[in-house]
Amino acid sequence: MSNRTLAIIKPDAVRNNKIGEIIAKITGAGFKIKAIKMIKMSKTSAQGFYEVHKERPFYAELVEFMTSGPCVPIALEKENAVADYRMLIGATDPAEANDGTIRKLYAASKAENAVHGSDSDENAALEISHFFSRNELLQNAC
Ligand code: CMP
Repeated sequence: MSNRTLAIIKPDAVRNNKIGEIIAKITGAGFKIKAIKMIKMSKTSAQGFYEVHKERPFYAELVEFMTSGPCVPIALEKENAVADYRMLIGATDPAEANDGTIRKLYAASKAENAVHGSDSDENAALEISHFFSRNELLQNAC
């Protein structure tokens, strides 16, 4: 069944001018882009998005990094989207990511790891709604 996931091209990859290469990898793997934008996350938005990590020692660093420059959230659709996208991006720590994955190619560290991917269908729906209105998604329906 076709389902959705949320990708974010993070500020490090945007700074390194890798938006185009990363989108080419994503669409080349069969994902359809349902909605896309470039934004600079506010502190409130980043704190809310990563609320699940708020007790973790890296939370403040994560919020600081995600608000350090523009990022590109993308709502993606594909059969088995969540799992297939996580395979495409590789492990959180690029040192552990498989060859050919987006994080292996473009990430520098666990903190600055180039891209985000939802970890479940339920979180994908919540995360997509964090960045995109119903209308923005409907406009891209085809
Ligand atoms: P992401 O997929 O966006 O979801 C949570 C993020 O927390 C993760 O990618 C990493 O960027 C970040 N993260 C996870 N573990 C650490 C860590 N040990 N130190 C710093 N950042 C981390």
